[in-house]
Amino acid sequence: MTDVARDMTVEAAPPLHRPGLTPPVLPAASLPRHVAVVMDGNGRWANARGLPRTEGHRVGEANMLDVAAGAIEIGVKELSVYAFSTENWRRSPGEVRFIMGFARKVLRVQRDVLNSWNVRLRWVGRTPRLWKSVLRELREAERVTADNTGLVLNLCINYGGRAEIADATRAIAEDVAAGRLKASSINEKTIQRYLYSPTMRDVDLFIRTGDEQRTSNFLMWSSSYAELYFSPLAWPDFNRTELWKACEAYAGRERRYGGAVDKVLHEEPTGAEDPEGDETEESLHRDGQ
Ligand code: FPP
Repeated sequence: MTDVARDMTVEAAPPLHRPGLTPPVLPAASLPRHVAVVMDGNGRWANARGLPRTEGHRVGEANMLDVAAGAIEIGVKELSVYAFSTENWRRSPGEVRFIMGFARKVLRVQRDVLNSWNVRLRWVGRTPRLWKSVLRELREAERVTADNTGLVLNLCINYGGRAEIADATRAIAEDVAAGRLKASSINEKTIQRYLYSPTMRDVDLFIRTGDEQRTSNFLMWSSSYAELYFSPLAWPDFNRTELWKACEAYAGRERRYGGAVDKVLHEEPTGAEDPEGDETEESLHRDGQ
């Protein structure tokens, strides 16, 4: 079998439930609703075994499905996977061609499995450069699963966080210029509405595999307050039990969103206004100063 033919073989999807494997029971309030995953380490995993990098991506397909199954089992509502970034076009033409063809095949082959799991597939990314055949499969997967009510699985393909914010800014500027939007009314909610997926929840738990500790331009806006979890495992070694471990670690974190509570009791003055003036930063802006 040629490399290309082997690369394109159909991976059997893991079962939705693995006998004998049950997720930890976590209080609903301590469970991440939206988990984002950078599926890193495929190439190194393959090369370490004397295999071409693409073999790591091929093996990683089953892990993506296993993690989706684990997310469903533990009760995560939304899962976003970084399958191809706007920066990944810098890879060798051979690897780019493989990933595009592979994405098309994964969508075509696994769409029905995910549909039977009640998963709603969504594409998150931009169209320039994305292969039309991949876009067609993404649209078809969205159409077939549109009425599903279970896990929302965001496939981030040709996605970049800065590109998303730049695209949103351009669309906002166009709407302001056309008189459809008032510049003075723009706030954080406006920006959210112009993102690739306006209904995407804020990311609660951001996982990166592959023993690297960076976020690599993934879901920059939505991950502003995400808890970060870095796994030393390469993606082909990461599975649903590893996802559950990450969820347990998340459940033990204290999320403060910029706020803080004094753990030592003492008397505090009330009010937080500037004692030397009654103008706030906001009123200065409003008055054009
Ligand atoms: C990063 O590993 C991984 C990718 C660029 C692609 C991962 C995609 C899948 C596993 C699943 C495919 C699913 C769809 C929907 C297409 P890397 O190549 O950066 O690894 P390295 O850090 O070892 O080089």
